[in-house]
Amino acid sequence: MGIQIQPCDSSLGAVVTGIDLNSLDDQGWLSVEAAWHEHAVLIFPQQHISEEQHVALGQRIGPIEILAENRKAVAISNQKPDGELLGPDSGYYQILRGNEGWHTDSSYMPVSARASILAAQVLPDAGGETQWADMRAAYQSLSGEMRQRIEGLAAHHSLFHSQAKIGHSAGSGSSYGLGDQTPPLRPLVKIHPATNVPSLYIGRHAYGIPGLSEADSEALLAELVEFACQPPRVLTHSWTPGDVVIWDNRCVLHRARPYDYNQPRVMRHVRVTGDPVTESGLEV
Ligand code: OGA
Ligand code: MN
Repeated sequence: MGIQIQPCDSSLGAVVTGIDLNSLDDQGWLSVEAAWHEHAVLIFPQQHISEEQHVALGQRIGPIEILAENRKAVAISNQKPDGELLGPDSGYYQILRGNEGWHTDSSYMPVSARASILAAQVLPDAGGETQWADMRAAYQSLSGEMRQRIEGLAAHHSLFHSQAKIGHSAGSGSSYGLGDQTPPLRPLVKIHPATNVPSLYIGRHAYGIPGLSEADSEALLAELVEFACQPPRVLTHSWTPGDVVIWDNRCVLHRARPYDYNQPRVMRHVRVTGDPVTESGLEV
């Protein structure tokens, strides 16, 4: 039986079966890629992908963004390799709590992310789902008035800013490995470089729309996220160990749902960096 693509019960997402990601050939990848451009989020149940194949899958999409210590795959995990769980004082615990806010990966970097691929390894008894929200459908559903209001607007994106908003007052952006670079400025409406479909480009890292007061900017960005991340534009996945999900950071937001942080949750993540031509910030 060949590849099966079952669209989810929301405006984005599909479940893909009948394919083995541990032995994906070029033909299989072309089918996956076409479905990915259409559905933006692909769920592959029960793949138990190896780290090597996980990285190789990312490399089919583009160059891997190195997130830690020269590693191409990183743990999104509240458990250290020695088994100890991270407590609330740990900086990485704060990053995990930050992931519970709607965001798109690496929008605070000079080149934002193209794709992320998450593989579930250890899961808590309850909670810890991941959700994605369709920013193509969100843009389509905006009122004409709102579309006019946001036309030409852009926001800065900063991890320092988004973490500060949830009470994590790290000394400076450099504690996130970002050095002292100016936060990139990104239009609120992004045209997808492969499909040409417009989508809202927002999320928790966005702030400081030039031309608006800080309060008006916060209020507008909050209103947009609130509107955008509503059914039928939201997909929720309850993980089983071995599941793999690929999503398109150029047109979806995502967030982790809370769980009991006294239980381990271990996910392996590979992030594909954007095209510098289309995923760099605006020149300022
Ligand atoms: C990520 C992320 C959410 C989750 O891997 O970038 O935000 O559910 N993960 O772990
Ligand atoms: Mn993320």
